Amino acid sequence: MEDREISRAVIGRLPRYYRYLGELLDEGVERISSSDLSKKMRVTASQIRQDLNNFGGFGQQGYGYNVKYLYTEIGKILGLDRTHNIIIIGAGNLGQALANYVGFEKSGFILKGLFDVNPRLEGVTIRGIPIRRMDELKAFIRHNDIEIAVLTIPKSKAEEVAGVLVEGGIQGIWNFAHTDLVLPDNVIVESVHLSDSLLELSYNISSSEKDTENN
Ligand code: NAI
Repeated sequence: MEDREISRAVIGRLPRYYRYLGELLDEGVERISSSDLSKKMRVTASQIRQDLNNFGGFGQQGYGYNVKYLYTEIGKILGLDRTHNIIIIGAGNLGQALANYVGFEKSGFILKGLFDVNPRLEGVTIRGIPIRRMDELKAFIRHNDIEIAVLTIPKSKAEEVAGVLVEGGIQGIWNFAHTDLVLPDNVIVESVHLSDSLLELSYNISSSEKDTENN
């Protein structure tokens, strides 16, 4: 891969390519033309070519794309050619729901532990994984080679807990608390706001209603 900046927009589209190619693989499809992939994904063939050219193309004129190869290469770009150990901080509704979802494990994100301040949750297990006390957190990160922490605690506690995670040596935080975390540059934060997606849905419904009214 070339050592140059790839735009956030392209990176943002890679998981979707990865998902579609994974489905094609499951269906036993060995190769696909850029026009068929474009129809399936509802993206123009030229967009696909442009995106994949960022990483050296992977396609062959007249052959199309080798699904397995492209899937593997995009997986490598996304860091999915190895496993990542993760923990969840905040074992409430959302934390437990994420812990119960096995799909992350299939992509190589291995849940090693859950942490919570609520003493009533201590020792409760989710899919066999115990909920632990926060005072064990830093040592746990170090001893279990934890790379990513999922933050599902109240917004008011997020900054403080993120500080402890940074001291423990965490590399990345998947932040669900609705607050922007200000952390050292070497710690990567990816924030998720499910409501953003819901608001987009609401917008699209509202604008299509307006279109119908105007016609
Ligand atoms: P919840 O109240 O069920 O769970 C929060 C858990 O965090 C509780 O078990 C609590 O004991 C624990 N906790 C509180 N302070 C803590 C600390 N300092 N250290 C460790 N654990 C601590 O709440 P729920 O519904 O699971 O939501 C969790 C958070 O996620 C909230 O901040 C909520 O606003 C946010 N959220 C974000 C969404 C998103 O799309 N980003 C969607 C839904 C919720």
